[in-house]
Amino acid sequence: MPEKVIIFDTTLRDGEQSPGASMNTAEKVRLAVQLEKLGVDVIEAGFPAASEGDFEAVSKIADRLKHTEVAGLARASKGDIERAWNAIQHAARPRIHTFIATSDIHMKYKLNMNREQVLAATREAVTFARSLTDNVEFSAEDGSRSDRDFLCQVFEAAIEAGASTINLPDTVGYAVPDEFADMVRYVIANTPGIGNAVLSVHCHNDLGLATANTLAAINAGARQAEVTINGIGERAGNTSLEEVVMALHTRQNYLPAATDIKKDQIHPTSRLVSMITGIIVQPNKAIVGANAFAHEAGIHQDGVLKNPMTYEIMKPETIGLSRNRLVLGKHSGRHALRNHLKEMGYDLSDEELDIVFTKFKDLADKKKQLVDEDLEAIVTEGILRTVDVFELEYLHVTCGTTVLPMASVKLNVNGRSMKGAGYGNGPIDSAFNTIAKIVGTDSELLRFSVSALTGGTDAQGEVTVRLQEDGLLALGRGSDPDIITASAKAYINGLNRLEYLKRHPNKASEVL
Ligand code: KIV
Ligand code: ZN
Repeated sequence: MPEKVIIFDTTLRDGEQSPGASMNTAEKVRLAVQLEKLGVDVIEAGFPAASEGDFEAVSKIADRLKHTEVAGLARASKGDIERAWNAIQHAARPRIHTFIATSDIHMKYKLNMNREQVLAATREAVTFARSLTDNVEFSAEDGSRSDRDFLCQVFEAAIEAGASTINLPDTVGYAVPDEFADMVRYVIANTPGIGNAVLSVHCHNDLGLATANTLAAINAGARQAEVTINGIGERAGNTSLEEVVMALHTRQNYLPAATDIKKDQIHPTSRLVSMITGIIVQPNKAIVGANAFAHEAGIHQDGVLKNPMTYEIMKPETIGLSRNRLVLGKHSGRHALRNHLKEMGYDLSDEELDIVFTKFKDLADKKKQLVDEDLEAIVTEGILRTVDVFELEYLHVTCGTTVLPMASVKLNVNGRSMKGAGYGNGPIDSAFNTIAKIVGTDSELLRFSVSALTGGTDAQGEVTVRLQEDGLLALGRGSDPDIITASAKAYINGLNRLEYLKRHPNKASEVL
């Protein structure tokens, strides 16, 4: 039997630190419920001391989840630990995750502390956390760049004080696999009491090595992997859950451990994260990219038809991606829709199904055949995405070769209908100018991209925008068979996210 690797998912904490990726509380709770369904062992729900919004989201997640451990992050200070505990104490299985930096450069320039002080702070923080719960994780921030013997001393102190998980982060994504594995072996060999704790690793992807470092660490004896869905996270991101899980599964003959992840939930979870955060998965991303199972070359296609294993080391079905992207049309009923959504990983309530079914019928009137991507877009916009402040009620544009592009728009702003009209360089520009005028936004549009969800001229357009205002960054996403409407939806979604960020400034990245 392979040994178990604990999957600690930090999509909601480190993942949310991705530039522009903010999630509101309802979106975080929805994602946490999906992560529980995916079978992760621990969900790091946030950093409660960072902001009121983080605290609220973490406590709602703690109340909602049935059995998954819920971790709250805290610096090594009494105030942060108390705040984390207050947010998670009602969870079925709460975990306090406290951390302090141990590298010379962080201690000198960031903490202004010497080694003795960091050792004392570690003991004090873990002892206090341990007085609240017996489930305490300690992380040595910038561990991979720390002096090895000092690192072992800090880990020894944390274990003595009662930490049951010890985490070795490669905070700046600097390590390379052999070196990182060697460090893990060193820690195991030189930390007294290490047998009483689970050794965890937390890697960042600055050199594109996060998954390789995590797997090397597991080979060397680590038994918890800290990961995020789609590898989102601070800067270049974190180790991606799907890569580690599928590597352990596919290379069982070589790697010594396995996870309890329900692999058929990987694809639905990846799509959910992408839809909620607005961060598109790069097409060639391992496991969950749109091209991960697409065979372009004729020789490959021929081989796959004869035997999929000629060019496929994994089956798309294993990660919940059906080969048969069933097509539904306007004659399909509620029952067929419910069943198909269930297969895609969306278990909707009757109320939610009503909303989706109405949108499904609307779309089926415009587009003959609907495939999974269409349904995902409907589910996201219909029920997964919560409307905060602005909602599109009406959009009309005129454009063409001989007219000035004009838009008239009606928005629902906090329950009040507001109208406006304006012009621009093209239909999208005029729609954006008009929306901006109604809302009175000072935000700047940094990026605008359009892609087709599926092939064909009746495909839904998927639009992503990136907005910036007063140092805040937000992504917006929208889809519709009409790309001007899709663009307006994406812009409004981005504006809603900016509003949310203004009301819930997330200070996580400032304090880390
Ligand atoms: O990257 C890091 O060091 C972290 C710690 C808080 C675990 O995210
Ligand atoms: Zn991190």
